[in-house]
Amino acid sequence: MRILVVGSGGREHALVWKLSQSPDVKEIFCAPGNPGIAQLATCLPIGVADIVELADFAEKMKVDLTVVGPELPLTLGLVDELQKRRLPVFGPNKLAAELEGSKVFSKTFMKKYEIPTAEAEICTSRKEAEKAVRAIGVPCVFKADGLASGKGVVIAREDAEVERALKLFFDDRVFGSAGDRVLVERFLTGDEISFMVLSDGERAIPLATAKDYKRVFDGDRGPNTGGMGSHSPSVFMEAGTAREVLTDIVHPTLRGMKEEGRPFRGLLYVGLILENGMNPYVLEFNARFGDPETQSVLIRMEDDLLPYLLGSARGQFDAALKPVWKKEAGACVVLAADGYPGPFERGQAITGIDEALAEEGVFVFHSGTAKGPDGSLVTAGGRVLGVCGRARGLSEALRRAVRASETIRYDGKHFRRDIGAKAIDVLRERTGSGLS
Ligand code: GLY
Repeated sequence: MRILVVGSGGREHALVWKLSQSPDVKEIFCAPGNPGIAQLATCLPIGVADIVELADFAEKMKVDLTVVGPELPLTLGLVDELQKRRLPVFGPNKLAAELEGSKVFSKTFMKKYEIPTAEAEICTSRKEAEKAVRAIGVPCVFKADGLASGKGVVIAREDAEVERALKLFFDDRVFGSAGDRVLVERFLTGDEISFMVLSDGERAIPLATAKDYKRVFDGDRGPNTGGMGSHSPSVFMEAGTAREVLTDIVHPTLRGMKEEGRPFRGLLYVGLILENGMNPYVLEFNARFGDPETQSVLIRMEDDLLPYLLGSARGQFDAALKPVWKKEAGACVVLAADGYPGPFERGQAITGIDEALAEEGVFVFHSGTAKGPDGSLVTAGGRVLGVCGRARGLSEALRRAVRASETIRYDGKHFRRDIGAKAIDVLRERTGSGLS
């Protein structure tokens, strides 16, 4: 089969890596890809928002399956365009992708279908937002309705931060039309978990749980990023809670989306918070694989990913599909560029990847890398590389990822050294050892 993967991040590198191991995959294209992906696939100079060009390519090359990585092409209707041309595609169509593309849609949907989530008010002016803050109380959360590259969520913990958020969203309008409508939401505390399921529109196949770490600095300090690391399993969720999430959240969501005339096929990412350590609430839905959770999850997947993606694209999973996970943990440490998540440096020479890969249980997925004028590898994005470790226990998987992260070098490199630290503490308490 010929596969086209759309995207250029670590998530897409992990997807290409996993698909390249399928006995049924003969050729992979990636648009636009990155230098890591180029070792496994043919990269194309087509951007993720170039919907017609992507569909033209898939049609011309008789691509058997297009796999859409990021949210932007989903919300722009790439899946609809491919389906119009009767080309198989993995991912939700534009209407279904609104679960991620509009926070107002997803909040209204959750309310209608009684899916547990924090109470919120929809606001279109500063005055409405001030009223909502008075009703909901401080701390509270401000969320831009539309896509904002992961920057549209602001937690206001005290009155001064509320004032700053009001200015940002309503006076300065930094989110443009994505901030025409704003949710003011009750702040929930607890452990966050990424719960990803594959869906064919009706059935849900859960992937291994994961946890990502959004803040830039150790100790969960500093601004939010696209994700500075992840591990799988998430550790924080017991099997009973996972069943509850499927019954109370995932299945009602899939049924509700079908009822709304928006059947969801693709990867449904449920961003959960466990309030008081046990009650799962939905913080957000995403309509695609998480990044960097996908890296930690896919290195643990024993079986072929292709039949799952094909089944979802066809609207019917094969009844026998049931993922098998290695009895090993996966961890991913993101190496970032100097300045990230603010304006960052580019063009720094990267060395040490082969050395890192020579170690047992180490995987490196490229995100923001490029080839310099002399063909050598340089930094080209805020999140540069996802350095992953896999081992029998989470502690060792994390140690492998951190050790390999030290081996890779470029000027301005920074990464978190405490990814998974709390998870290890939880495991120690549970088992008397951090090794499980
Ligand atoms: N890691 C969070 C996300 O993919 O949105």
